Amino acid sequence: MYGLVHTSVRDMILQNHGTATWEKIRAIAGVGDEDFLAMNSYDDSIILSLVSAASETLEISSDQCLDEFGQFWVLDTAAKHYREMIDGFGHSIWTLLKNLDHMHDRMTSTFHGYDPPSFFLENTTHNTYLLHYRSSRQGLTPFVIGLLKGLAIHFKTPIDISIEQETLSPEGQHTVFRIRERKI
Ligand code: HEM
Repeated sequence: MYGLVHTSVRDMILQNHGTATWEKIRAIAGVGDEDFLAMNSYDDSIILSLVSAASETLEISSDQCLDEFGQFWVLDTAAKHYREMIDGFGHSIWTLLKNLDHMHDRMTSTFHGYDPPSFFLENTTHNTYLLHYRSSRQGLTPFVIGLLKGLAIHFKTPIDISIEQETLSPEGQHTVFRIRERKI
């Protein structure tokens, strides 16, 4: 994953849990300043070590940690650094979800050799959608759930999320989320 993803995890821990906790997590994960160059592509083992060290230190599951990180990515990192992109690619949560591949594609010119996920949004009824998530990685479903929760807050659109189907394969994974807009 790109260094900017590592930096966002570091920011989240510093902001939500303080410097002493970050130092502990960083020591357990065995990461140094050289692992936080935004435009560098790093082996996924680094992000996995960070998540596992954070879950051990904070005494929460890795899934909870990834969920918290997904929300932080949207509500803090993207809001501070990629606000124009988020707003430019969607005026609602649904248009943004439809445009996610275009949005990730936009970064290809900036990020050399990166491997983004792919999303496809299917509208089933007037307020229910199926979101297909495909990745060459495995285990990031809770991260996507956190991202969706963050988008729901950003766009002030309350939603219920459930997993309809999850398929792991040697190529990665395919997860289908059922997302229902809660009418208030
Ligand atoms: C403007 C905001 C965003 C930017 C700049 C951005 C950029 C990136 C970058 C650079 C990566 C790392 C890819 C790699 O290192 O190979 C990534 C990964 C990822 N992004 Fe985004 N992203 C944004 C918003 C979103 C949103 C809103 C979602 C979904 C709701 C999303 C879903 C993901 C997922 C799930 C991954 C993990 C990689 C994987 O699943 O294989 N991103 N993104």
